[in-house]
Amino acid sequence: MERKIGIIYSSIDGQTKKICKKLSANFNKNQIKTALFSIENFNGNLSEFHTLIIGASIRYGKHNKQVYEFILKNKEHLKEIKTAFFSVNLVARKEDKNTPSTNPYLIKFIKEINWTPDFLEVFAGKLDYKSYSIIDRIMIKLIMRLTDGPTKSKEPIEFTNWQKVDDFSLKINQNCKNKHITL
Ligand SMILES: Cc1cc2nc3c(=O)[nH]c(=O)nc-3n(C[C@H](O)[C@H](O)[C@H](O)COP(=O)(O)O)c2cc1C
Repeated sequence: MERKIGIIYSSIDGQTKKICKKLSANFNKNQIKTALFSIENFNGNLSEFHTLIIGASIRYGKHNKQVYEFILKNKEHLKEIKTAFFSVNLVARKEDKNTPSTNPYLIKFIKEINWTPDFLEVFAGKLDYKSYSIIDRIMIKLIMRLTDGPTKSKEPIEFTNWQKVDDFSLKINQNCKNKHITL
């Protein structure tokens, strides 16, 4: 069986999924096979993967509970393969909060889950007031006001740095090669 990179996303509005699709396309360009799943519909067999990437967005300060459950349930297996985790949130649009060691959500997540993936990253997400419910819009505006962000915009604002996404896939790709993992 040819082993691949598994990519699992937890995404509500689609930005984390979009980032995962870009990572997948980058690997495929380098002849590395991938399998993409949402955390809700994961039906893969972990032994199919030499590397597993998990991406999850933040909603009201938290990653999806299913992400914690998945990692805790598979912790032993995850130690046997290469692993990567990234978080997507709006706080990461700020330069002083956009690295694994400065983003509060990622710091908290890693502490709580007591799991150390080989690669960690954080990406800024998307702000799209028009797509939010009234309550969510009020709440996000409040968060933006408190953190000096845009409190209105008719158009979606994508804060994701796509070069950083490309660099992340390159780093994982490079490591697979260095460790002589059969792709
Ligand atoms: C209801 C709601 C709550 C959010 N809460 C937070 C938050 O607490 N902190 C933060 O940095 N970003 C927050 N965000 C921003 C999202 O993390 C960001 O929009 C991200 O791109 C969403 O990713 P997804 O499309 O994959 O779900 C929130 C967004 C929404 C819609």
